[in-house]
Amino acid sequence: MKFFVDTADVDAIAELNDLGMVDGVTTNPSLILKSGRDIIEVTKEICSIVSGPVSAEVVALKAEDMIAEGRKLAEIAPNIAVKVPLTWDGLKTCKVLSSEGKMVNVTLCFSANQALLAAKAGATFISPFIGRLDDINLDGLELIGDIRTIYDNYGFDTQILAASVRTANHVTQCALIGADVMTAPPAVIKGMASHVLTDKGLDQFMKDWAKTGQKIL
Ligand code: E4P
Repeated sequence: MKFFVDTADVDAIAELNDLGMVDGVTTNPSLILKSGRDIIEVTKEICSIVSGPVSAEVVALKAEDMIAEGRKLAEIAPNIAVKVPLTWDGLKTCKVLSSEGKMVNVTLCFSANQALLAAKAGATFISPFIGRLDDINLDGLELIGDIRTIYDNYGFDTQILAASVRTANHVTQCALIGADVMTAPPAVIKGMASHVLTDKGLDQFMKDWAKTGQKIL
């Protein structure tokens, strides 16, 4: 499973990228706001760090305007994936931009039917939002499984990009289900390294090591 980082924080991306943890990046208007930076400038900087797909989201609501914005965003770098919302106009935009050979990430997906439409419109990535479904007492992971089954049934090559990943358990379950990609905030990815028994075991080793009175260096 590929790891995308869900942030526009360049320092956080660079730190994870140095460890080989970054196969791509996803941003959205809220993350651009959080970064406090200009969308074109920050996206260009991210693309200079990361060679994999970097999603940059359109903000227009009509297809004609979305297409124009998508073409402008795609000029930033060859690894831009234009992110469009899963609306009828977003699907039209997906069809046009993917026919031009651009990568398209269809976002804000909350149902299997929406994912089916995105695949038929030629999406490179479909982004089902796990956490936001869980927030309203629906099962986000179940949706990932349903889309996996449907795409495999018909051989769609649209990649399932599990989004709105909030916990390390979401990551484990996405990998077990067979999501192609998951995108998570840096803190969730770093949190995957933590285990209470690792901390407990290390604490005991340190105590016992101190009692030996030895040094390695
Ligand atoms: C995905 O591309 C989105 O940017 C993101 O995963 C949304 O996550 P959230 O629901 O935690 O805001």
